[in-house]
Parts: sequence; C-alpha cells; structure tokens
Amino acid sequence: MTAQIIDGRSYAAALRAEVRERIAMLHGRTGLTPGLAVVLVGQDPASEVYVRAKGKQAVEAGMRSFEHRLPSDTRAENLLDLIHRLNDDRQVHGILVQLPLPAHLDTRAVINAISPVKDVDGFHISNVGMVGTGQDAIVPCTPLGCMMMLRQYHADFRGMTALVIGHSNIVGKPMARLLLNADCTVMVSHKHSTNIPDLARMADIVVVAAGVPGLVRAEWIKPGATVIDVGINRIERDGKPALVGDVDFENVRRVAGAITPVPGGVGPMTIACLLANTLSAFCHQNG
Ligand code: GUN
Repeated sequence: MTAQIIDGRSYAAALRAEVRERIAMLHGRTGLTPGLAVVLVGQDPASEVYVRAKGKQAVEAGMRSFEHRLPSDTRAENLLDLIHRLNDDRQVHGILVQLPLPAHLDTRAVINAISPVKDVDGFHISNVGMVGTGQDAIVPCTPLGCMMMLRQYHADFRGMTALVIGHSNIVGKPMARLLLNADCTVMVSHKHSTNIPDLARMADIVVVAAGVPGLVRAEWIKPGATVIDVGINRIERDGKPALVGDVDFENVRRVAGAITPVPGGVGPMTIACLLANTLSAFCHQNG
C-alpha cells in the first residue's frame, strides 16, 4: 500500500481563497476591514519568519496587519500596556503574541491579558476551557488545521482510535480535546510515555507533535492509518540543511492510508486557520 499524500498547500489555498472572498463581501456590505495585530518580542529567527508570513498572508486576504516588534528586554508592564491598547482598538479584531516569549516574561499572564474575543490563537484560558468542555470557542490554529484535513478523509470519527504524540498546550492537548469532542477514542502520549509504539499500533489516526525528527516509524503504524505530522525540524542531511517532520515519511507512507508531508502538510494550514479565526473574530465583534 502507498499512502495518499494529504496536500496541505492546496487545502490552505482553498481556505485562504474562501476567507478572501468573505472579507471582500463583508467589506462591500459594511465598509469594515478585519485587522490582525501580531506582537513579536525579541529576535528569535524562526519567530521572525512566522510573523512575517502571518502579516503578509493577512494583507493578501484583504485584512489590515499591524506588526509590533519589541526588544527582547521589554518589561512585562510595557507588553501588557500594548495588549490593553490593542484590546481597546476597534481596528484590531485579532491579537497574536508570538511564542516563545523571552524567559523573564510570564507567558500565561501575557496570553490571558488578551481579550478572549480577540485571542485568534485560542490560547486564552477561557477559550481553552470552552474547547475543553465542547463549547464553541476560538480553536488553536494548528489543531484546527489538522482537524480540517482529517475531516477530508473521515466523515465521522465515532468508533475510531487516535493517538496524539506530544502534550504541548499549543498542539497536543487541544488536538486531543478536539478529537475527543468528535467522539474519537483518544490516547495522548509524551516524552515520559514508555509504550508509544504499542499505542500507535492500535491507532486509526496518529497525530505527532513531538519535535523529534523521524520519531514515528513504519513498524508502529496500523496499515491504512491516517498520519498527521506536525513536526518542523531543521536538520542537516547529506551536508545540506533540510526540513523534516517527526515521521519517517519515506517508510511510513508505505504502510499508512494517508499522510501529511513536511513541508507542505500541516504548516500551510496553520496560517490559513489563523486568517479564518481572525475573520470569525471580526464577525463575532461586529454582530
Ligand atoms: N509559536 C509556535 N506556534 C505558535 C502559534 O501557533 N502561535 C503563537 N502565538 N506562537 C507560536
């Protein structure tokens, strides 16, 4: 068997086009434009790349993009001041503080200072709690993108077994909650789990966000399973820089039923979902 390759780029392009059309329609009707504010503290090179891409794609979708770059020694009170101003700014409908923050800043306090209705990352404790209890809320972008791609292959998750590898607040935990809300039987493993291969062999769906290149091997995978690779690891291969996921793609694709590649799988969907979340937040704030 050779797995179908789940083409995240084309799903993301379709979602971006849908967002763009809806924004043009809403703008024509109301004269209003959704605005996304992205805050970057410090100069982490990977964060710089993500922040630039988010701003560019927001503008391409017809939104306003507001970028706020602060030095790495920014004091908590100045960052919180900026967030309060963005909360009150009627041109801003979505606020995202790029993570990780420098160590001296309290990430939880910063995220919870964002107005929950503008929290387009879905990281605010009230959005986390609502998703955790199966209520409508803003859902974190990466797990949302994974669910959208999974739904293309599985109309109904009931009766299916899923393994989520990784229990981060950004991906693993919300991913597990979304699968559980969809009535999937969900297992969550992490770096202290001792039996991940055995758990994986039971799973119809494997979602991995562990940050370990090539962690998931072909022998772990139930034939025909759907494998979603959230990993983005920069490694050196044959003396050249390469981007790889957490899945041993070349071997796992021979066993799985469907699989996301890296690059071109989950990554493009994440920013497209951020645009979709910003549009939803805009609609919510404008009744
Ligand atoms: N850093 C890595 N992923 C994310 C994300 O989805 N949102 C934010 N704000 N920071 C991140």
